[in-house]
Amino acid sequence: MNTASDDRARAGLRESATFDRPTIAAIQRAAETGIYDIRGWGAKRPLPHFDDLLFLGASMSRYPLEGYRERCGTDVVLGARHAKYPLHLDIPVTIAGMSFGALSGPAKEALGRGASAVGTSTTTGDGGMTPEERGQSKHLVYQYLPSRYGMNPDDLRRADAIEVVLGQGAKPGGGGMLLGQKISDRVAGMRTLPPGIDQRSACRHPDWTGPDDLTIKINELREITDWEKPIYVKVGATRTYYDVKLAVHAGADVVVVDGMQGGTAATQEVFIEHVGVPTLAAIPQAVQALAELGVHRNGVQLIVSGGIRNGADVAKALALGADAVAIGTAALIALGDNDPKYAAEYEKLGSAAGFYDDFQDGRDPAGISTQDPELAARFDPIEGGRRLANYLRVLTMEAQTIARACGKAHVTHLEPEDLVAVTIEAAAMARIPLAGTSWIPGT
Ligand SMILES: Cc1cc2nc3c(=O)[nH]c(=O)nc-3n(C[C@H](O)[C@H](O)[C@H](O)COP(=O)(O)O)c2cc1C
Repeated sequence: MNTASDDRARAGLRESATFDRPTIAAIQRAAETGIYDIRGWGAKRPLPHFDDLLFLGASMSRYPLEGYRERCGTDVVLGARHAKYPLHLDIPVTIAGMSFGALSGPAKEALGRGASAVGTSTTTGDGGMTPEERGQSKHLVYQYLPSRYGMNPDDLRRADAIEVVLGQGAKPGGGGMLLGQKISDRVAGMRTLPPGIDQRSACRHPDWTGPDDLTIKINELREITDWEKPIYVKVGATRTYYDVKLAVHAGADVVVVDGMQGGTAATQEVFIEHVGVPTLAAIPQAVQALAELGVHRNGVQLIVSGGIRNGADVAKALALGADAVAIGTAALIALGDNDPKYAAEYEKLGSAAGFYDDFQDGRDPAGISTQDPELAARFDPIEGGRRLANYLRVLTMEAQTIARACGKAHVTHLEPEDLVAVTIEAAAMARIPLAGTSWIPGT
């Protein structure tokens, strides 16, 4: 096929790999406006990821399970280390924390509906717990964040688990932001801040400056909730081995590790693309830390997030040692984000279906990342919940298919030994042998 780029090449024109078109556009945009670029979504640069790993299905040396007849379990228990009431989930895929403010009220409600329909948990976010989200979520994890926006001790007691957020994969070391156009009266009321004014969330929690204080804070949270609820600690992937060890020492029942492909509602582009560690590299570090403390698959659970898209990603994360995964961006897409039916409207915003990442703007044609009442009214939480539940079922069935093919009667029985890597980088990061060899670079 004769393409425009073939024509340009024949004419002797050559595009720079260093100064490619997005780079040129970014320089021109910066020169024009004098402000840095803010957007949602996660890192878009190519990074070693789950696609660089493959499963070794069973054949002679391993025995597969029969797809339609033999059972392959998917349930997971989270937080049994200290909590009176750990979470019993039917599937190992959970919904990550996404703030009310970033997302509309109906979108939050739909996340609860979809998760509950398949027996899994959803999570609040910066900005607090909405009644519709609580009402529709069978298992609701309440985030306790550096910003304290929307923090309410009664909501801690209304939650099924508490997630202490130390960082996010999209912006480890940085705080969140919610631009004024999304601060409606309701969002402002929950955050006890004025409407219409940009809100920046702190990157450091005012209640602790280090691991010792965190231990005290976790104990306080346990006391005020009568030791009922599992306490998670969420970290953005950076020095993951040390962070996970410290989180466990501080008393976490569950550690959430969010890799750099992880989504965000809004932060600086330079942050999203240049800070953090890929999800693939973070998992073995977390597993090593838990294993050395004797708590891997033995008391403390590991939830991994950052770029999970399909059942193969879920299965690979579990095989590398996660007990469950969390999804954010994919859940929004399942709800209807970036739907081609809004192509004309995305175009009016200077974007396109499949490219739309301006969650910060609040003009989302799909009515999901907005507080505009007219746009939000386009989104039907019941239909959104149905779509999300379908998607979660597919993720689970795909992970089960792979687990059975590897001869496993439960998805969490998948193990590193079931995997090979197709690139040297992925092999080194995931600590998995390069396909056809027994070579794990760096070990
Ligand atoms: C719209 C949006 C809002 C988010 N809000 C929060 C938040 O309030 N608190 C938080 O810890 N993480 C937040 N995150 C990050 C998610 O919890 C999660 O770490 C990330 O989305 C996982 O990566 P994935 O999007 O590739 O699945 C948000 C992500 C998105 C996409």
